[in-house]
Amino acid sequence: MQSLKHGVLILDYGSQYTLLIARRIREQNVYCEIWPCNDPRISLALENNSFSAKAIILSGGPNSVAVENSPDLNGGILSLNIPILGICYGMQLLAEAFGAKIKSSEGGEYGRTKIQFSHTAKLFADISKQNHTTVWMSHGDEVANTPENFTVTAQSENGVIAALEHNSRALFAVQFHPEVAHTKAGNAILNNFLFKIANCTPNWNMESFVPRAIKEIRTKVGEKHVICGLSGGVDSSVVAALLAKAIGSQLTCIFVDNGLLRKNERAIVEENFAKHFNVKLIVVDARKRFLQALAGITDPEQKRKIIGEIFIRVFEDASNEITSDKEVAFLAQGTLYPDVIESISIRGPSATIKSHHNVGGLPEDMKFALIEPLRELFKDEVRELGRELGLPNSLVMRHPFPGPGLAVRIIGEINEERLAVLREADHVFIQGLLDDNLYHDVWQAFAVLIPIKTVGVMGDSRTYEWLCALRAVSSTDGMTADRSHLPHEFLGRISDKIINSIPRINRVVYDISSKPPSTIEWE
Ligand code: XMP
Repeated sequence: MQSLKHGVLILDYGSQYTLLIARRIREQNVYCEIWPCNDPRISLALENNSFSAKAIILSGGPNSVAVENSPDLNGGILSLNIPILGICYGMQLLAEAFGAKIKSSEGGEYGRTKIQFSHTAKLFADISKQNHTTVWMSHGDEVANTPENFTVTAQSENGVIAALEHNSRALFAVQFHPEVAHTKAGNAILNNFLFKIANCTPNWNMESFVPRAIKEIRTKVGEKHVICGLSGGVDSSVVAALLAKAIGSQLTCIFVDNGLLRKNERAIVEENFAKHFNVKLIVVDARKRFLQALAGITDPEQKRKIIGEIFIRVFEDASNEITSDKEVAFLAQGTLYPDVIESISIRGPSATIKSHHNVGGLPEDMKFALIEPLRELFKDEVRELGRELGLPNSLVMRHPFPGPGLAVRIIGEINEERLAVLREADHVFIQGLLDDNLYHDVWQAFAVLIPIKTVGVMGDSRTYEWLCALRAVSSTDGMTADRSHLPHEFLGRISDKIINSIPRINRVVYDISSKPPSTIEWE
């Protein structure tokens, strides 16, 4: 039987769209992995037993092929004799390898651009009755002449070579970005490459993921015991459900009340757990331990590091209480594919913007090995997996909540009073979204406490109290995000309710920044 981990290998040359290429391919139910363009495993791509490439896509990138030390085409991939599609920078690398010159475009081409294409080209088969379409361009260099044994299959309205096809081998290239939604026929072009050219099998779905993941977990865990930190969020709940199915009694879930939780969170998690899981749960009240360690700390990265460290120490202490004859050897985490890519892409971990505590902030001397069964998945796939495992929609569709919790939503120092104030404000906002059926219209929403004082007036008296910001964003995976256009009337009502019911807040603002250049969380 064909291994499920056959699929497309995407070589990352640093494009901002590389993850998007992977998403588009997964959406067509084809498995894919992203490797840095200089990954030493590339020559093994055909026989690497955990993943075998049926085709390769070369991503775009910010470099110029003409500049010294810019990333090269790994010549070895041409001798693998599998279909290759070069996108943007990837096209230029491929063209150069076959003798074409790359030159700087006058002014480049950016944004929506019309191209004319040939109906007989394999990549453009059946995409439209007309011979022109609109694509998304973003390049400063261009292929100056037709490479040897290639045919130009599309040209832009500015006369730039927009697509190439080798005359006898399965080598293709496009100057534009088929992965970007603005390229009208983008999905159809990728679809042609995947199924008509590379003969990929659309067998990547969560139904087939479950048995493979269970087998891998059982092999890795053997006779040992696993602890799983449960946060109440989607990712850790899905990890717990998957592990419960794979290893049942060898699993203990630990829920840590770190004092940084939302209103009623502990009760909600305990109730959900009792209803939907049949494994052991330990609830640890570590509120004092976290708050004492965070006292006086204002720096966001320091907060994250402290929280990551204490989490592990709490797990270690709790694991000593597990009455199992098996060694507690693993800590399960809900790390997702975007986190993995972030730390291995050619942009490298140096581009880290925040150390997410379930990846970046772990102490080096912890005594557990990590088990991360969602490492290959995107957020929407995790949600689908949750449904496949029988978790209710109310849990699977919960907004993401960061590991460091409310600590990164209080700007500056954290203390009990500030936490209590933020908890109330957040509750008013989230409950309002639920009551008005707006909760699922946004990807994530929350309140932020900015404990600086501004002047207000209430009744006949002057007030001098804190500021609260509301944040709601639309996104697909948190990598980029846009402000949500919540109705003004709704925001007005929430603002009134927060100010009238929480004496320490006398001003509410709505955060209208997008990511980038801002981030979703404020710290
Ligand atoms: P940012 O603020 O980086 O957030 O735009 C992107 C998404 O990640 C969540 N987030 C975290 N999740 N541990 C987590 O598990 C963290 O330390 C962390 N920091 C941010 C954030 O809520 C958003 O969904």
